[in-house]
Amino acid sequence: MKIFTRKSELKAFLSPSKKEKKTIGFVPTMGALHQGHLSLIKRAKKKNDVVVVSVFVNPTQFDNKEDLDKYPKTYENDVALLESVDCDVLFFPSIKEIYAENIVSEKFDFEGLEYQMEGRFRDGHFDGVGTIVKTLFEIVEPDTAYFGKKDFQQLQIIKKLVEKYKLPVKIEGRPIFREEDGLAMSSRNVRLTKEYREAAPFIYKILKKARKKFGIKDAKELTEWVEKQFKKHPLLELEYFTIADEKTLQTTTTIEPNKKYRAFVAVFAGNIRLIDNIRLKSKKSIEAS
Ligand code: PAJ
Repeated sequence: MKIFTRKSELKAFLSPSKKEKKTIGFVPTMGALHQGHLSLIKRAKKKNDVVVVSVFVNPTQFDNKEDLDKYPKTYENDVALLESVDCDVLFFPSIKEIYAENIVSEKFDFEGLEYQMEGRFRDGHFDGVGTIVKTLFEIVEPDTAYFGKKDFQQLQIIKKLVEKYKLPVKIEGRPIFREEDGLAMSSRNVRLTKEYREAAPFIYKILKKARKKFGIKDAKELTEWVEKQFKKHPLLELEYFTIADEKTLQTTTTIEPNKKYRAFVAVFAGNIRLIDNIRLKSKKSIEAS
């Protein structure tokens, strides 16, 4: 695997492949890689001639300094994992290489997607994500970039970014990869104490129960039911639970037959913030399928 820290070197390396019309698959990450990341990379390998993975803990998308400072950094392990899946190129730039002296975000209009859920609780987060992803796309110029549905709102915002700026890249969303006990894999999971790690699968259990109840209880009742389950939990603190339209990400109270819905959740396990989501099917469509 080739490792580059400079964008000029990465571009120079990729240039002949582009001339030969080889396809480039790209997986942007913040490192501390796990099987969820690897599932994206394996998909990219299967579909492209050259696969580039970036590892960059992007400062402008963190609204919480402690979260940024304590974000796990596991470079050697990341390199070993990337080699194990035959990744072709790792791009591992410094903050200076990306931002020079000006560590600020561009301001974006994602047509309201940015004000829902994570946007309400993480100030400036999606401007930071938009800034880094657009910059990385300009450097790598991939044919296809792969993103996990674990961060479903991020995925929809990236699709909007590509549409609005007419960026020449295809975006593919991939399923959420989970631990055996159902906890969605996340780089932050390693920061959970034993007690919180054991408690955390409760999040997905509730999401699955909510999926079963969807269509029997209406959206408001279901939200209240979920809130009650978390209130009873001694360790986990719910930040939000919402049922939203997949396209607009707006919280819904009425369920319309032709729309797709998803339940989204953010939970504090101590001071570690975990997010998850699940696709919902109304009882009618379950019966029909
Ligand atoms: P990071 O959290 O490292 O995630 C990188 C990619 O892996 C994202 O597309 C994310 O959705 C995906 N991912 C994380 N956990 C996953 C899981 N359990 N199953 C499937 N996919 C999973 O998301 C970011 O980094 C950053 O915001 C980034 C896009 C790199 C911009 O800085």
